[in-house]
Amino acid sequence: MPRKAEWKSSWSNVSSPPPPDPVFLATATEIVLRAGDIQLRGQASGFRIDKKGTIDLVTEVDFECERMCREILGERFPDHDILAEEFGGASLSTPSRFRWIFDPVDGTTNYAHGLPIFCASLGLEIDGQRAVAAIYDPSRRELFTAERGQGAYLNGRALHVSDTRALLDSLLVTGFPYDMHRQSSEIVELFGTFLKTSRAVRRLGSAALDLCYVAAGRFDAFWEQHLKPWDVAAGALIVEEAGGRLTGMGGEPFNAAVPHLVASNGHLHPHLLATIEQFRSRKRTD
Ligand code: IPD
Ligand code: CA
Ligand code: CA
Repeated sequence: MPRKAEWKSSWSNVSSPPPPDPVFLATATEIVLRAGDIQLRGQASGFRIDKKGTIDLVTEVDFECERMCREILGERFPDHDILAEEFGGASLSTPSRFRWIFDPVDGTTNYAHGLPIFCASLGLEIDGQRAVAAIYDPSRRELFTAERGQGAYLNGRALHVSDTRALLDSLLVTGFPYDMHRQSSEIVELFGTFLKTSRAVRRLGSAALDLCYVAAGRFDAFWEQHLKPWDVAAGALIVEEAGGRLTGMGGEPFNAAVPHLVASNGHLHPHLLATIEQFRSRKRTD
């Protein structure tokens, strides 16, 4: 049986773009592994925690990881754009064809509480297309990677989404925004709807790992609202390359700049979108 990327290339359009330069994945991998070392060292030695909002935390480890990432990318690719959570977007005089998107610690609340569910997430877009992704969970030593058209991998082993076909047989995951206290009850009510229509719903606290786990078939689907590009830029490519499907919550094409998404194994996607649509039309008529 050929690997997924091989059979895909045998029927795909001959004009599809060539795979990204391998130096990009090597760099992305080096950065997330180094971030993992910084995160583990921080856990061992202790770190300062500040508040960005009422419940939104940031630690000195978030800043240290992001500084490291910016330093490496700045040295190797001085003309590339960088968008990252803590220090924002670079404004180069000429916008670059290359944009790196970095979340230095995805799962900061877990990290600050000593819960070992967090990672660093780095994606590269080339000409606006997701091209390269690396996400590293240092607590489990799990490195998730993908390159456009080349499949998705966990520690070098090819990943594939699950084959679950029925919502009632599915294990789902979601997340909640930091301004949850100010949000309408819709987010919690939709969570309740999926609790009643699936086998179970989890909340891990790291959107990047939620996506990796959909790619690995550990979860059948993930949905969330109010996300940021750095939460999903890398994980989205990993899901796509593992054979999964991504859209906005209304079924529109996925875009990392749009803050809501549904990511699934593909089979469940119509059921998930229909559940959301039914939920919303019920709310409209209530
Ligand atoms: C958060 C996590 C969480 C998700 C939040 C994100 P952070 O990112 O991914 O799972 O529910 O919406 O903001 O703040 O830990 O980088
Ligand atoms: Ca995040
Ligand atoms: Ca973060």
